[in-house]
Amino acid sequence: MTKNEQIRKAVIPVAGLGTRFLPATKATAKEMLPVVDKPAIQYVVEEAATAGLTDLLFVTGRDKTSLENHFDRAPALERTLTDKGSHEVVEELIALSHLADMHYVRQGNPNGLGHAVNMGRAHIGNVPFAVLLGDDLIDANTPVLPAMFDVQSRFGGSVLCLMEVDPSQTHMYGCAAVEETELPGVVRVTGLVEKPAPGTAPSNYAVIGRYVIAPEVFDILDTQAPGRGGEIQLTDALATLIDRPTEQGGGVHAVIFTGKRYDTGDKLSYLQSVVSLALDRADLGPDLRAWLIERLASDQ
Ligand code: UTP
Repeated sequence: MTKNEQIRKAVIPVAGLGTRFLPATKATAKEMLPVVDKPAIQYVVEEAATAGLTDLLFVTGRDKTSLENHFDRAPALERTLTDKGSHEVVEELIALSHLADMHYVRQGNPNGLGHAVNMGRAHIGNVPFAVLLGDDLIDANTPVLPAMFDVQSRFGGSVLCLMEVDPSQTHMYGCAAVEETELPGVVRVTGLVEKPAPGTAPSNYAVIGRYVIAPEVFDILDTQAPGRGGEIQLTDALATLIDRPTEQGGGVHAVIFTGKRYDTGDKLSYLQSVVSLALDRADLGPDLRAWLIERLASDQ
């Protein structure tokens, strides 16, 4: 693939256990929790499709069949709705199976994000690909993938998405050391640390769940030792690519994201996503806003 060919393939890891959202996620995938009236993962798939990604590989695990069913046809349900005259709803449901070509691979043991991405090796082949974390929701009004694809086409290598966070939050993320480039909002990544101890982060730039990755990452992941938490960390593999700036597939840049993003695997951020996206909706926003104002006033 030359630098200017469009990126079409994505890996969407959804095999995590979702332990931060128990008990809701005991028997249900966290990616299937509804955000207003769609499961969180549908926003991610719609974002991918809008960005021109046509081939999506989900890395799934136990208890994720509802996710596969969501993007498949449902003949009995479609027939029942058609008999009732609900043609618009039927079309909406069928459209879900046409958003992209969807493929699935199981990660038998959730051994870390790097391990999950490496499950995509055979499917991806030798082309740069996107990774979208299934529990990271980026507001459709502030997309970031197109800018990341532009950066990859210009610099090659891999591209991260960084978001400035409060210094008190850096220990919850991968954090990047960066240098400016000639492009506003685009930086060169010179180092990465996974969940740095408080006060030790190289910057306030946190890595969020959108990546464009060079296929050379697979060779690195194949032989990489377990890192933090005993897991095969994607951050460690990206750090190796940073250390090889002149080699094929080496070098890492990043787009600084200033839009709206939610971690739907975190209870507070999940609630914020529901409220924020519902407030933006013409059918729900005005009534919800009025109710929230009343509800908050009654607290005071
Ligand atoms: P997280 O660490 O947020 O997911 O991983 P988790 O492990 O499900 O969450 P908690 O901490 O237990 O609540 C980020 C993404 O990587 C996927 C997750 O599904 C999530 O989308 N993941 C993580 C995998 O697919 N496999 C893994 O081994 C680890």
